[in-house]
This record gives sequence, structure tokens and C-alpha cells, in this order.
Amino acid sequence: MNVLKEIVHNALMSLGPVQRLAMRWHSTGLNNREDSAKATYAFMRERVSVEGRDVLELGPGQTLLLLRYANQDGARSCVAVDIADYFEGRRQDQHGVRLEIYSGRAIPLESESVDVIWSNDVFEHFRYPNDMVAECFRVLRPGGTMVCRVDVRDHYQADERRFADNLRYPRWLWNAMTWNRSAFTNRLRYSEWLAIFERVGFEIIEKEPYLVQALRDEYKSRTDLQRWSEVDISARGFHAVLRRPAVR
Ligand SMILES: C[S@@+](CC[C@H](N)C(=O)[O-])C[C@H]1O[C@@H](n2cnc3c(N)ncnc32)[C@H](O)[C@@H]1O
Repeated sequence: MNVLKEIVHNALMSLGPVQRLAMRWHSTGLNNREDSAKATYAFMRERVSVEGRDVLELGPGQTLLLLRYANQDGARSCVAVDIADYFEGRRQDQHGVRLEIYSGRAIPLESESVDVIWSNDVFEHFRYPNDMVAECFRVLRPGGTMVCRVDVRDHYQADERRFADNLRYPRWLWNAMTWNRSAFTNRLRYSEWLAIFERVGFEIIEKEPYLVQALRDEYKSRTDLQRWSEVDISARGFHAVLRRPAVR
């Protein structure tokens, strides 16, 4: 990355009109494609049931399809929260899904008000990851379940050998280059996420790192990566199923 260019880019993205213009070209992942939304919903449903439950999705980006499917399958209520408004002010989807836009630090829901939280490729974008995991714990009812899929790759690189390039920069510089941009990543690795989940009080029910050989090779060849474990660097992402313990 050209550091100076990225800093200027990031500074421009702090301007509301520039940010809104840039959103027209964003790719948010599922991008409202039905086939990918169905596959992602099936992934969530394998891990948690929605019938009669209050469901929250973090960071739906450009698609409310997952929550529409949950609504069709008998969820009691479906709400999504995001920091970016891809729906241009429309808050109530006609398929029973509510969308709230917020600052990304305090979820705008009552404590213990949902049974299920899910998110696909969102945790890595949290600007305040510790606060956000604590917020997820707060809004979940005791016994509630959270399923997250997290993509820890450098979002500015397409070549898998460079998926850990974001770790080359000190935090202040990385933030100066990317904080205001949609491809910002907080750069937390697999074990760091697990530690936050446990610290906040979640039980880890299921966890699986997605390991990549090219990243393992990077780990062996780069001295700056040695302060992480081999698994932490080799994982391009992971999923986890967390439970807020039921009150005894
Ligand atoms: C890579 S996109 C994924 C979108 C969608 N989940 C998908 O899989 O297509 C990341 C989304 O997370 C949102 N996001 C970032 N920080 C967030 C936060 N603190 N709370 C909720 N959403 C957030 C972004 O605005 C964006 O819509």
C-alpha cells in the first residue's frame, strides 16, 4: 500500500458526501444475491433455530434476505443493526424486518431482548471490538446463542500470500490509512477473538479456524509474524458459536 495515498483516501472518506458517494460502489459480500444469502442462512440455521425467537443480525450490509427467511420460518421478530445505511432511510422492510442504523459501539436495543444474534463477515470491521462483544452479551437473553463468521484477511489484498499484510503496520498508521473506510479491519486474530468472547462471559460451543497453506508459508518466512501463533496467522477466518450462559 502507498501509505501517503491511503492516508489521504482515508481522510477524504471522513466527509459525509464522499462516503455516501463511495457506498454506491461498495461490495459488501452477499450483495443481496439470493443464492449466497440462502447458503449463509442455511449455515446459521444449522447452528441455531429461529422459530418463536427474537433474532438480531449485526451488519447485514446490502441484504436483509437472511432475516426475511428467518421471518418466513417463524421468528418472533427480526431486527438488523448496521453502521452504514445501504437502504437509504427505509427502516421497515415489508417482510417484517426492522433495520436500525447506529454508531457501532452501543447496540440500540434493550438488554436481554433477543434470543439469537448472527453476523456474516462483520466482526473484523468493528472499530470497538471489546465494547461490541460486551454489547452482544448484554442484548442476548441468558441461554441465547450468537453465531459469527469472521474474515480476518487484509481486505485490500486479493493474493492469498498477502492476506496477512495488514499486520505489517503499527496500529496508529493502519488506523490513519483505513479507519473511515468500509474495508477497515481491526486485525484481531482467531485466538484474540476467542479470548474476548471468554472474557465477556460467553461459553464457546463451536469454533473452527479456516486454515490456508499460503498463510502458513508466510508465517514461516516473516519474522514480524512470530509474535502470533501459527494457527493465528494461518487462519484467513473462522466461525464460532457462543452461548450466554443460562441463569442458574
Ligand atoms: C463485509 S460487510 C458484510 C455484509 C453482510 N453481512 C454480508 O455478508 O454480505 C460488513 C458490514 O458490517 C457493517 N458493520 C461494520 N461495523 C459494524 C458494527 N459495529 N455494527 C454493525 N455493523 C457493522 C458494515 O457497515 C457492513 O455493512
